[in-house]
Amino acid sequence: MLVTIDNVLSGEELASLRLLLDPSVWNSGQLTAGPQAALVKNNQQVPEQAPGLPVLRQKVLDALNRSALFFAAALPLKILPPFFNRYSGASNSYGFHTDNAMRMLPGQPGSYLRSDVSATLFLSDPDEYEGGVLTIDDTFGKHGVKLKAGSLVLYPSSSIHAVTPVTRGERLACFLFLQSMVRDAGQRRLLYDMDMAILKLRQDVGETEPVVRLTGIYHNLLRDWAET
Ligand code: NI
Repeated sequence: MLVTIDNVLSGEELASLRLLLDPSVWNSGQLTAGPQAALVKNNQQVPEQAPGLPVLRQKVLDALNRSALFFAAALPLKILPPFFNRYSGASNSYGFHTDNAMRMLPGQPGSYLRSDVSATLFLSDPDEYEGGVLTIDDTFGKHGVKLKAGSLVLYPSSSIHAVTPVTRGERLACFLFLQSMVRDAGQRRLLYDMDMAILKLRQDVGETEPVVRLTGIYHNLLRDWAET
């Protein structure tokens, strides 16, 4: 399931993230890639030791925490601290790869996060660069994604995906991996569809008895399927 969420960041937040990223020292993106991904990864990343990184990360996490749609679609259990990348100049693309299934949690030796859902939060507007399309190849075919700055796309970590070469300008983005409370992508999709349908019903007909029952069914399914 591919879900896009508009305006995860306010204009103000976006501007402050861009200001913080501006003086960043950029490292090779190779550092966080697994061996297969490293062969095709050609971008830059804010290094772990960068002084501005904790603030950048907190701003993104605060914005995600606020988003009801993000919660509904991802049902996040654990989120790996977000990373920030740049595609421009000679470091401008990322070939088809799959994300590592397991990621060590920083500062917690021996503890892992299972990556169920990957996300890209766009920090540059589409007219600031040419190319740089996030291309996701899943069971429903290939999808090209290029969103306005401040918007986010969620996609299964199990997919094969790539970023096409940026041939003009600079593409800044934040990317992250999360473990969902609901491991199975099909179950997660059912819950999301049901949640959205109930939301619409509630708007249309109000808090009627069937809406209360359906809400109960949603939570009972979540109780059955969620692991914490
Ligand atoms: Ni990836």
